[in-house]
Amino acid sequence: MLNKLLDGNQLAVKIKNEINREIKNKILNKNKKIPHLGIILTGNNKSSILYVRNKIKECKNIGIQSTLIQLQKNIKEDILLDKIKFMNENPTIDGFIVQLPLEKHINQNKIILSINPKKDVDGFHPENIGKMILGIDCFYPATALGIITLLEKNNIKIHGKYTVVIGRSLIVGRPVSILMSRNHTIGNSTVTLVHSKTPNIEFYTKKADIIIVSVGIPKFLTGKMIKKGAVVIDVGIHNILNKIIGDVDFKSVYKKVSYITPVPGGVGPITIAMLLQNTLKAALNNIK
Ligand code: GUN
Repeated sequence: MLNKLLDGNQLAVKIKNEINREIKNKILNKNKKIPHLGIILTGNNKSSILYVRNKIKECKNIGIQSTLIQLQKNIKEDILLDKIKFMNENPTIDGFIVQLPLEKHINQNKIILSINPKKDVDGFHPENIGKMILGIDCFYPATALGIITLLEKNNIKIHGKYTVVIGRSLIVGRPVSILMSRNHTIGNSTVTLVHSKTPNIEFYTKKADIIIVSVGIPKFLTGKMIKKGAVVIDVGIHNILNKIIGDVDFKSVYKKVSYITPVPGGVGPITIAMLLQNTLKAALNNIK
């Protein structure tokens, strides 16, 4: 039977091997400073703690140094801004991220604006978002970059196809809709971005060749919302009764798709690989 699963783990291993090779050839063999990723984590959101732990583990495995600054849930915005200043000004740190979501009392835009765009390996700063829209080389948000890489490396044609992105977050929905629609070798898809205020989402998804689901609602996309042969990318990750599931009702959707990402083991591992790739890019920019 045709294997419909887009294996993120397998591709992530390949990409990480390439990164590792580049670190050896371009950095270690030339006695340059090893790449260094900073991470700022606030509060005690279980998913964020888990993501950050994985990011640190993967850095270690691949030969990237990491520094974690962990701050309490009720941290004052000024203190967080001070820590960002520390990361911005510390010459040993090539790039850093502030793990999202932030607590409600913190102004997320103010935080993102305070990050030095040259160290913004998340690609969330307006300078990077703007460059992405203009098609200028920059840091692309890891999840969005991971999704188009997963499609490309599995030879899934997106040129001329109709893509529906469900969810308009800064982290996934907005950047991936830009990357899918850009005029580029990986792009040229016709994109509709739907969200929580869109009436009758099914109207769009039933016509879609590719559906990218990032709504944060377990099993949101069901089999009856899609057409036969669609490609489904599930960005969701939820721990329900100790079982990890996504935003897609896997059982009913799997029957109809041509390809689908599993959860876990789909988009998640690729996202981390893309963060490592962005960190290497930042490090190489610094030694040019
Ligand atoms: N929270 C969930 N995904 C991400 C990500 O890619 N970057 C940051 N900073 N926070 C996240």
